[in-house]
Amino acid sequence: MSRPRLFVTRKLPPDVETRAARDYDAVFNTGDNLPTRESIVAGAQEKDGLLVTVTDRIDADLIRALPESIRIISTFSVGYDHIDVAAARARGIAVTNTPDVLTDATAEIALLLMLGAARNATASIATLRSGNWRNWAPTGMLGTELTGKRLGILGLGRIGRATAQRARAFGMEIHYHNRSRLDAERERGAIYHDDIAGLFGVSDILSIHCASTPETRGLINRDTIAHLPEGAIIVNTARGDIVDDEALIEALAAGRLAAAGLDVFNNEPNIHPGYLNLSNAFLLPHLGSATLETRNAMGFRALDNLDAFFRGQSPRDLVEG
Ligand code: DGY
Repeated sequence: MSRPRLFVTRKLPPDVETRAARDYDAVFNTGDNLPTRESIVAGAQEKDGLLVTVTDRIDADLIRALPESIRIISTFSVGYDHIDVAAARARGIAVTNTPDVLTDATAEIALLLMLGAARNATASIATLRSGNWRNWAPTGMLGTELTGKRLGILGLGRIGRATAQRARAFGMEIHYHNRSRLDAERERGAIYHDDIAGLFGVSDILSIHCASTPETRGLINRDTIAHLPEGAIIVNTARGDIVDDEALIEALAAGRLAAAGLDVFNNEPNIHPGYLNLSNAFLLPHLGSATLETRNAMGFRALDNLDAFFRGQSPRDLVEG
């Protein structure tokens, strides 16, 4: 029986590509060139499926331009805001993602961002590397501790809960807001707030873990930042477009917020230049899932979804949209 034909838009970890090459008639992006709309449409010709990543904007126009042969788009990511799922569904194309497998890696980065932001990592590292570290000083480079602080989690889903679990080990008190309250087993003592203002009002550190949706885009803005305590810290491992950059940069520059730890940005990789000169912004280049274990697991999960689909089964991670 002939193998399904697959176009893989980005270079994937070697073990993932080896498995894909074994089970699919696959075309890979060996040079890892950033795909354009045109190259995705060209690569999709005479293929049955696409394996894409968060850097591929699969909008309605692109979906319309795909050949009839494409029946599934499997994304190597938990987030699927880069795919117009409704447009795909309208064309009868299935969409799958990779939940669960990047939960721990992303929660670890959230803790790194909290620590880096709270302990002045950006300014301190710059002082050390520039040769300007003169001596240990009782009042020098002081940050704030996580211990005993209130951590507000916006979106207590899988990654939010994994972050809360780690934060409890630091002695933090966990608060959260979701559209609806979780059961006690998943709350594990976290304090529920039924609105944003209530959560933000008690968040010494606010960690963003909600998906990017029309409702959450721009949710961190001048009005909502005003609810945070003076000197609060914001951490974002979810999506850049949940934050209004101008509002956050203004609050950081004014010292209204003590610091921010950001792994995701609007318009990556061309991030708002205002962040670059802020010594209280601890910035990482979208590293949430960037470990070999996790990237392998994401690739295998994306392939599991394709395998199930081409066996005629319902893939485990079918996105409903
Ligand atoms: C995802 O999977 O959505 C991340 O942002 C990339 O690891």
